[in-house]
Amino acid sequence: MTEHVVIEDTGGVRLIRLDRPDKFNALTSAMYDTLREALAEADASEAIGAVVFSGSPGAFSAGNDLSDFVEASRHPFEDSPALHFIRQLARTRTPMVAAVDGVAVGIGATLTLHCDLVYASPAARFRMPFVELGLVPEAGSSYLLPHRIGLQRTTEILLFSEAYDADEAVRLGLANAVVPADRLLDHAMTQAARLAALPKGPLQATRTLIRRDQAALEAAVETEAVAFEARLRSPEAQDAFAAFLNRSRKA
Ligand code: COA
Repeated sequence: MTEHVVIEDTGGVRLIRLDRPDKFNALTSAMYDTLREALAEADASEAIGAVVFSGSPGAFSAGNDLSDFVEASRHPFEDSPALHFIRQLARTRTPMVAAVDGVAVGIGATLTLHCDLVYASPAARFRMPFVELGLVPEAGSSYLLPHRIGLQRTTEILLFSEAYDADEAVRLGLANAVVPADRLLDHAMTQAARLAALPKGPLQATRTLIRRDQAALEAAVETEAVAFEARLRSPEAQDAFAAFLNRSRKA
């Protein structure tokens, strides 16, 4: 457990709120562990019918904590809390809703690809700068993105690390609606409550049908993990992490 993830269960909806605003909700190992447990518990619970992910004002999540990446590169990636969380995320059966305000970088963006419903404030800015950081995509994004938005746009987002905003997310079919920041969480909670109120049998069966190839998604997560581990240790990645961390120190 960590104080940087706040979990609240209300009326069948589990709210998972990232709460490390001074670091734009960058995810640490402890946060990944808590997120994984929160999703596994939701799946095991009869009382929880939907999950909502939210962040802080202006920061959904800045992705993996870059200091943690340096540490992670010294250990087998197989043991990393990040990979355990990603595996859980990919197999979670409880419907998930994202309320994205501000930056959603790296896993902060790829997490939303797993969500059943995504709502974004006008300030939302999604970015997957894996190549820029010397890495490869994770969380099944190399499988989910081209299937959802086609190879051409995926190339711009994953190779050029191009950001997309809330309007573009809706246009691409990666978000359901743009919602003003002051109504964002309420709206996500309301929609999650609607999901939680649906009968579980047909909901699960329909979710399985429309998500189609679960086995391919889980296979992509594993293939990415092998490439990701190799990239984590590469000089390009180590240099990129050092450049960001030194920049922070100097600022
Ligand atoms: N890991 C660790 N710390 C992070 C972080 C991350 N991923 N993202 C932001 N932070 C920290 C900064 O180091 C800084 O900490 P400090 O105040 O102790 O120096 C604080 O959060 C604020 O970030 P800063 O860069 O000063 O704010 P900004 O408004 O100029 O930019 C971001 C915000 C999120 C756009 C920018 O911090 C960023 O690009 N972060 C890296 C995102 C990333 O590459 N994630 C990994 C993807 S795989």
